[in-house]
Amino acid sequence: MYLEMINMLIGRWMMPVWLLLWGGCYRTAPEGYVIHKTAVADSAMVVSAHPLATATGLRILRAGGNAVDAAVAVQFTLAVVYPSAGNIGGGGFMLIAPPQGEPAALDFRERAPGAAFRDMYLDGAGAPIPDASVLGALAAGVPGTVAGMAEAHRRYGRLPWPELLKDAIRHAEEGLGLTALEARYLNERQALFRQVNREHVPFVQAEAWREGDLLVQPDLARTLGRIRDLGGAGFYEGETAELILEEMRRSGGWISRQDLMDYRAVWRTPLAGSFRGMEVLTMPPPSSGGVALLQLLGMAEAFAPDPGEAFRPAAMHRMAEASRRAFADRASYLGDPDFVEVPVPALLDSGYLRRRFADFRADTVTPSALVRAGLPAPSEPEQTTHFSIMDAEGWAVSVTTTLNLAYGSKLVVQGAGFLLNNEMDDFSLKPGVPNQFGLIGDSANAIAPGKRMLSSMTPTILRHDGQTFLVLGSPGGSTIITTVFQVVLGVLDFGLTLEDAVRAPRFHHQWRPDTLWMEPGWPDSVRTGLSRLGHRLVEREPYGRVDAIHRLPDGRLVGVADPRGDDHAAGY
Ligand code: DON
Repeated sequence: MYLEMINMLIGRWMMPVWLLLWGGCYRTAPEGYVIHKTAVADSAMVVSAHPLATATGLRILRAGGNAVDAAVAVQFTLAVVYPSAGNIGGGGFMLIAPPQGEPAALDFRERAPGAAFRDMYLDGAGAPIPDASVLGALAAGVPGTVAGMAEAHRRYGRLPWPELLKDAIRHAEEGLGLTALEARYLNERQALFRQVNREHVPFVQAEAWREGDLLVQPDLARTLGRIRDLGGAGFYEGETAELILEEMRRSGGWISRQDLMDYRAVWRTPLAGSFRGMEVLTMPPPSSGGVALLQLLGMAEAFAPDPGEAFRPAAMHRMAEASRRAFADRASYLGDPDFVEVPVPALLDSGYLRRRFADFRADTVTPSALVRAGLPAPSEPEQTTHFSIMDAEGWAVSVTTTLNLAYGSKLVVQGAGFLLNNEMDDFSLKPGVPNQFGLIGDSANAIAPGKRMLSSMTPTILRHDGQTFLVLGSPGGSTIITTVFQVVLGVLDFGLTLEDAVRAPRFHHQWRPDTLWMEPGWPDSVRTGLSRLGHRLVEREPYGRVDAIHRLPDGRLVGVADPRGDDHAAGY
C-alpha cells in the first residue's frame, strides 16, 4: 500500500529544476567508455564506480555466477581499474541478502598490527605526529580484502574462483584507459606518491596524466595471479607476504608475518531494523554506519512522511539535529565489538531514541556543546567505493570497500604492485583529537593490537515482504552515514525517484565540529532558512557516490550510478 502511494507520488514534476541540471544519464570518454547513470532491467543489475568493473559483474552473472560471485569479481576488478579506492590492500564490508534464508554480513575490515599500541601516533609531548597515521607504511592496517573475498566465495560462491580474477588480471596486464576523473586524481597526488615511494610506481609518470592514457600494472597482475592460483594464501603467505614484509622493513611499517597469518574475515549478524514498514539490513560494528543509520531512521520515524518537505529547511534541520545526536553517540560508544562492549540494543531502543530527540527544537539548533552521548553510563570508558548487485535469483549484495583516503597510504608494495591502506587513521589517535574526517572518539575506538578500527561504511539493503526493495551505500567517510540516510528518506519519505534522491545535493552534520556542511547546488532560500535556525553553514566539494539498485513494484530493477563520478549502472 505504502509503496504504491510512494510510486504514485514519484514524478519528475516534483523535482526542483536545479536538481535536473546536475548530472546527465551518460557520457562517453574518448577511449570508448559509455557511462550510464541509470539502467532499467528485468533480471539483474550491477552498479559500481567504474564501467569496466560493472562489466565484470555482468559477465560473471551471465556466466551463471550469483551476486556474491559477481561481487568478488567486481572487488578484484576495481582494485585494478579504480586504484584510488578499489583495493586488495585495504578492507571493507559485504552485506548479503539471499532470496531465502538468513542475511549475512562479512567483516573484512583491516586490523591494527600486533605491535600497535594506543599512543603510537603521539610524540613525547603527547601531540599527534603529523601524517604518521595517514602517509606511508605505518599508516597501514593489516589488509582484509583478499581474506574477505575468499571467505565470501567459500561460503556462497558458485563459479570457480579463478574465473573471478580473470578480468582483473587482464586489465592489469594489458592496461586500461584512464577516465578524465582518474587522471585528475592521479595528477593531484603525484607529489605524495613520489614522497612515499622510493622506487618507480605505476601511478607516477613524468608528464601529467590525461584522459585515455594507459595504466599498466604488471606487478599487480602477478600478485592477482598468485591469488587466483592459491586463494588467500596467495596474499597472506608466500611471495606476496614476503614482498609486504620487505616493504615494511624498507618503509618502517609494523605489519608482521604473524599479523598476515592471523588475519581472518569475520561473519557478523547484520543489524536488522525497520523503517516505514521496510526491513532495514545494515552493517553492525566494527562499522558505526549501521547503528548510526538505524538511530537516524528511528528519530526520523517520529515525523510523518511528507513529499512536500523534500529539500525544505524544516526537514533538513530535523535530519541535521538527528545526526548531531547520533554522531555524539558514535564518538563515545562505538568500536570493535571483539574488544569493547558496544551497547547496540540500548542505542537502537525506540524509547531511547525518543528520549534522545526529546530536546529537539523545530525553531532553533541544539548547540553541539549541549549534546552529550546519550546513554546513562558508557559501557567502556576521501576514498572509498560502494557497489550494489542483484541477480536473477533475487540475491542482493551491498559492498563498501576502501583504502581509507584516496590511494590509501600512497605506498605501493614494491614488486607486488598494490597500494596499502591508511586505515589506522580511523582509530581515535587521542581522545578528542579529530581524524581526517573530523571525527573524534575515545577509548572505545583507541588503538590496540589486532583491533579493527571503527568505520562509517554503511552497506545497506532494504526489504519489503521478504523482497529486496533497495540496495545502497556510499563512500565519503563520516558523510557516508548521512548520505545513505538522505537517500533512504528521499525515496521513502519525500517521494523522490532513486535517481533524483541520489542526484540531489547533500548536507551533513556530525556533531563535532558544530557545522552543517552543504554541497554546492542548494538554493539560497534553503541556505537562508537553515542559517536562520542557527546552523553554521559551510560549503564543501561534492562528496559521496551512491551506487544503488531499486526494485520497482512491477519487479524491474532500476540501477542508479551517482553522477558525481564515473560510476556506471548496467543490467539485463
Ligand atoms: O571506514 C571508514 O569509515 C573510512 N575509512 C571510509 C573512508 C572513505 O569513505 C573515504 N572516501 N571518500
